Amino acid sequence: MDVNENLRSRQWFGGDIKNGFIARHHLRATGLGSWAFDGRPVIGICQSASDLTPCNRHLTGMAEAVKRGILRAGGLPLEFPVFSPGEPFLRPSSMMYRNLMAIDVEEALRANPLDAAVLLTGCDKTTPAAIMGAASADLPSIVLTGGPMLNGRFKGKAVGSGTDIWRMSEELRAGRIGAQEFTDFESCLNRSAGHCMTMGTASTMACLAEALGMMLPGGAALPAVDARRTVLAEETGARAVGLAREGLTPGRILTREAFENAIVVNAAIGGSTNAVLHLLAIAGRVEVPLELDDFDRIARRVPLLVDLMPSGRFLMEEFAYAGGVPALVTRIRDLLHATPVTVTGRPLTEECKDAEVYDDAVIRTADGPVQEPGSGIAVLRGSLAPGGAIVKQSAAAPELLVHEGPALVFDSLEEYTAAADDPDLDVSADTVLVVRGMGPRGYPGMPEAGNLPLPRRLLEAGVSDLVRITDARMSGTAYGTCVLHVAPESAVGGPLALVRTGDRILLDVPARRLDLLVEPEVLAVRRDEWTAPPPPPGSGRGFTRLHVEHVLQADRGCDLDFLVGSSGSDVPRKAF
Ligand code: FES
Ligand code: MG
Repeated sequence: MDVNENLRSRQWFGGDIKNGFIARHHLRATGLGSWAFDGRPVIGICQSASDLTPCNRHLTGMAEAVKRGILRAGGLPLEFPVFSPGEPFLRPSSMMYRNLMAIDVEEALRANPLDAAVLLTGCDKTTPAAIMGAASADLPSIVLTGGPMLNGRFKGKAVGSGTDIWRMSEELRAGRIGAQEFTDFESCLNRSAGHCMTMGTASTMACLAEALGMMLPGGAALPAVDARRTVLAEETGARAVGLAREGLTPGRILTREAFENAIVVNAAIGGSTNAVLHLLAIAGRVEVPLELDDFDRIARRVPLLVDLMPSGRFLMEEFAYAGGVPALVTRIRDLLHATPVTVTGRPLTEECKDAEVYDDAVIRTADGPVQEPGSGIAVLRGSLAPGGAIVKQSAAAPELLVHEGPALVFDSLEEYTAAADDPDLDVSADTVLVVRGMGPRGYPGMPEAGNLPLPRRLLEAGVSDLVRITDARMSGTAYGTCVLHVAPESAVGGPLALVRTGDRILLDVPARRLDLLVEPEVLAVRRDEWTAPPPPPGSGRGFTRLHVEHVLQADRGCDLDFLVGSSGSDVPRKAF
């Protein structure tokens, strides 16, 4: 074994006096012999498996294959748990806890005797959180997601996570299906280990981890239960040892060009609106200047090619069989930068040059796209959103993309939910539904509630979409004409706080405008009268307090202000 005394782990295990002894003898208690301390790179396996994050539960098994790869390549694997923000259970919102995982990952990587890390992730927040933490620790790191579940199947048809839940719950509310059918559907949706298999946030962030260069090519789409993912896990472990030896850090991979590639891929896959927040937050960690408007400007050139729910028809299983991200890259090569290196040490376009598309219905050609260039995530500005807002055009009703209507305003999600089924609610298909108090600070943590359920009265009348405006997020699996991420949020006094029922609002997506058609003098009076809402429940102490006091607005990715940037991986001081 070639001993590299420059490895940071040598500062723990390398000494032959007391210091090295202390580090080594505790690992000997786990059954490791002297070979483990012979100067081989120590690779952390950052584990987000948890019973509370069911999408990641199988990562415990996948870690075994990662360890095999690390050992095969001459490293020493050490697996450790991190806080795992699971999408299904966390309240008040999983988004608030993304930053807690990012802190945990960063501190664990820096404080321990590690030379590189494999980041095992899957569920929505876990992938961006791990990359954020690794970026701030700037330790060589490689992402391995757990992979999507197999397609759901219900009554002979494929059904998709989230997307079909939204659809079926509206059917239930409209009385078109009964409770038993809904329960039967529920048991047919999640048929295997893995994360949501629509192009929701988990699948999106897996594809973007690949596009950013933080994952081995082909890593995003393979189903969780596909044996080839286990092979990929072993290769990921082996490659982590190479990263440690080469010192290839996230800071060298996550360049401005890499983010631009990720934005292109996000547009081509019809990725989640949440990707905007996560990419902004990751860019903040490596101090790459990335703005909300970059998403609009770059994505305008990109056609939607991947025909997956919620924007299209298929699910991740079909995307994998069609060739996944490498196949897609062959179709958008001209739109991608050829320079940024990935974890392989080579650029994405070079890695994918021999890939093939195996199903043109799933990964379309530029001549026959799912949607033309410029139909993806649009960034809006105007008097109602001076800090910006976004709308996912491919998930919206085309006839509502230019719409003026009267506002119907609610101060909280609870207030709207209580009114939504009221048969006398004063609402029509022209109404612009505004619900505030759901921003990063106000809720707290920007829940995925921006795809507000339609008022029952409209559903029963056969209305299927409505312009909805919030400072919230929306699930990556959801659809509708939902203007999201309005900044600044209402809780900090953004103009959203000043809207009143009956005000006219103009949404003009082609012009990228969102305007409150109220005279400035009238708004000035309302502003004088406005008082800030009380701090959200639970924000007196603990992590919620840290979040509420430090969270940045949506246009900065909702990171905590003091977490922006990197502290690097210098070995911290020790007391003895
Ligand atoms: Fe975990 Fe959808 S709930 S990925
Ligand atoms: Mg989600």
